[in-house]
Amino acid sequence: MTDKVVLAYSGGVDTSVAIKWIAEKYDMDVVALSIDMGAEKEYEAIRKKALDVGAIKAMVVDARDVFISDYVFPALQADALYEGQYPLATALARPLIAKLMVDTARLEEATAVAHGCTGKGNDQVRFDVSFAALAPDLKIIAPAREWGMTREQTIDYAKSHNIPVPVTVSSPYSIDENLWGKAIECGVLEDPWVEPPEEVFTWTRAPQDAPDKPCYIEIGFDGGIPTSLDGQKVNGIDLVEKLNSVAGEHGVGRIDHVENRLVGIKSREIYEAPAASVLLPAHLALEQMTLAKDQLRFKQKVALEYADIIYNGLWFTALQQDLAAYVKSTQRHVSGTVRMKLFKGRATVVGRKSPKSLYRYDLATYDEADQFDQSASEGFIQIYGLPVKTQAQVQVEEELK
Ligand code: ARG
Repeated sequence: MTDKVVLAYSGGVDTSVAIKWIAEKYDMDVVALSIDMGAEKEYEAIRKKALDVGAIKAMVVDARDVFISDYVFPALQADALYEGQYPLATALARPLIAKLMVDTARLEEATAVAHGCTGKGNDQVRFDVSFAALAPDLKIIAPAREWGMTREQTIDYAKSHNIPVPVTVSSPYSIDENLWGKAIECGVLEDPWVEPPEEVFTWTRAPQDAPDKPCYIEIGFDGGIPTSLDGQKVNGIDLVEKLNSVAGEHGVGRIDHVENRLVGIKSREIYEAPAASVLLPAHLALEQMTLAKDQLRFKQKVALEYADIIYNGLWFTALQQDLAAYVKSTQRHVSGTVRMKLFKGRATVVGRKSPKSLYRYDLATYDEADQFDQSASEGFIQIYGLPVKTQAQVQVEEELK
């Protein structure tokens, strides 16, 4: 019996060529698996194409729900933003794709898994490390890393093997997208001095062309999970889709990031992530109302760590699970509503409220409702400033003058 391999199939030229190339080079039967995480694609057409090109079986899995609930929202609860800029759309999708590939490999009794990543990016690492964690017995085939073909050679290979090459392949950009965002690379973008041409943006309007009137939206959170928009309960997929469209319309969510890849190179990445650019600051605003100062500070460190774990392909590790458990615990009082203003490319927090808010008007106010005992401050400051005073007298009095 011929051995089987499960290939993550996007419908693009590289993974189409991979179907033929694997069959030729490894003499294996290819099962194509396409995963819907909210990219605007014709998945049925992709499935048919896989079969036309030579896969023995092709299937599509709708993973949007799990993606949002088990990957995107935990990252949101953690406030994960790689290097302060990238909301991690691609990075979050990879471990889930790997998991679904392994599940399929088991069902199909395949002996290998395959992906179309090159040898220069982060995605190959995320896939291969996930496979190592979930199914170390499966062989990993990475045609694009192995075949050493240039873009043109790949296209020639496709043409000579009767693989349809769509005209859009002439686009110089490499794109990866899902509900949480879109990544755009290559072409003129590889010069970090060049402003991204307007044509690369398809999810967002240019801020200067956005409506002249601001749009206000209210996002309701329940335990750190966004669950309503303008008072209406809404499921995760709909909420993220709606925010992508409304915020994108207002020019919110364009990100230009010179990023440190795991393989040691810097790369210039353009992202569009309207929903993430609204939800991350909204979520943080609610945490600022409901978490104590020390919780917030500690959680910031965890956010950095957690974002790196996601970026670096370490989803299926004990550390990821431990930090996720900590983050989940921090969210038990992060419930309430945040009011955001979308205007000309910016998403600004303009209001927040929570039944578990630690903000106390009677302590903060300067008017007559004031309950704060100002007379207690004097003694507090005496003790608080004591070590400063002591040291200054003995050691640094002269230096400070
Ligand atoms: N630089 C981003 C990341 O590493 C986006 C990668 C986009 N991936 C792709 N296959 N085009 O997560």
